[in-house]
Amino acid sequence: MKIFKSIIEIKRYLNEQRNNNRTIGFVPTMGALHQGHISLISRAKAECDIVVSSIFVNPTQFNDLDDLAKYPRTPGKDHQLLESAGCDALFSPEVQEMYTPQELKLKKQRIEDKSWSNGKEINFGLLEKVMEGAHRPGHFNGVAQVVSKLFKIIEPDKAYFGQKDFQQLAIIKSLVQQLDLPIEIISCPIVRELNGLAMSSRNERLTKEERERASIISRTLFKVQELKNKKSVGELKTFAESEMEKEPNIELEYFEIANALTLQPLTDMEQAKDAVACIAVKLGSVRLIDNVILT
Ligand code: PAJ
Repeated sequence: MKIFKSIIEIKRYLNEQRNNNRTIGFVPTMGALHQGHISLISRAKAECDIVVSSIFVNPTQFNDLDDLAKYPRTPGKDHQLLESAGCDALFSPEVQEMYTPQELKLKKQRIEDKSWSNGKEINFGLLEKVMEGAHRPGHFNGVAQVVSKLFKIIEPDKAYFGQKDFQQLAIIKSLVQQLDLPIEIISCPIVRELNGLAMSSRNERLTKEERERASIISRTLFKVQELKNKKSVGELKTFAESEMEKEPNIELEYFEIANALTLQPLTDMEQAKDAVACIAVKLGSVRLIDNVILT
């Protein structure tokens, strides 16, 4: 696997590949890789000639500096995992390679500032107002900023994202549409631990016991899925909330049943063809999200 830290060098490598008519699949990540990430690499490998991944812990999408500082970093293990999954190239730039000091300035400014869109009017509308968007101000602006930069550098034919971050996927699809980019966005299923816990880099920060306790999150989601035709949205929400209350270390941030396309909350399952149940909790200081599609 080739490893690039500079934009110019990876662009040069990818231009050569394109000149040889090779299709490029791209898997952006923030590292601390696990089998969830690797499933995206495998899918890209099956569908594209060249697979490029990136590891970049993007400071502009963290609304909590402590979360950024504590974000797990495991470069040695990451390189091994990517290598054995058959990833062809890794882009792992330093912060200065991706951002000017101006761009890194004031977090408050970044929340609304879409200057990264080169004058194009980008508006995620209600998509960024709910759930993760409501609880992590500026988060999706930072995600869109870094992903649009990465897309400009890599210029992939296809880019792979996990349904684990269901709302992020919706934001990226909207971004590609609004910027009119010729990139196909492929959404990939959630990979889980044996006990059902959705794999996440943040799980690294949980103790063994906490990981066991955290399985209540997915168990509750699957139960909601099972009950979806038997109970009202209100009853399902009450059920999920009471399940979370059973676990004293878990603090529920939100549980929402939403239209899977618009992500707007549903009050009645009949309101949408496809629905999704999304949850965010804090287990100690670690924030975990998960979801299950209900249709
Ligand atoms: P990160 O959390 O590292 O995730 C990278 C990709 O892996 C995302 O598309 C995410 O949805 C996917 N992923 C994570 N856990 C997964 C799981 N258990 N099953 C399947 N896919 C999973 O998401 C980000 O990084 C960043 O926001 C990024 C898009 C890289 C922009 O900085």
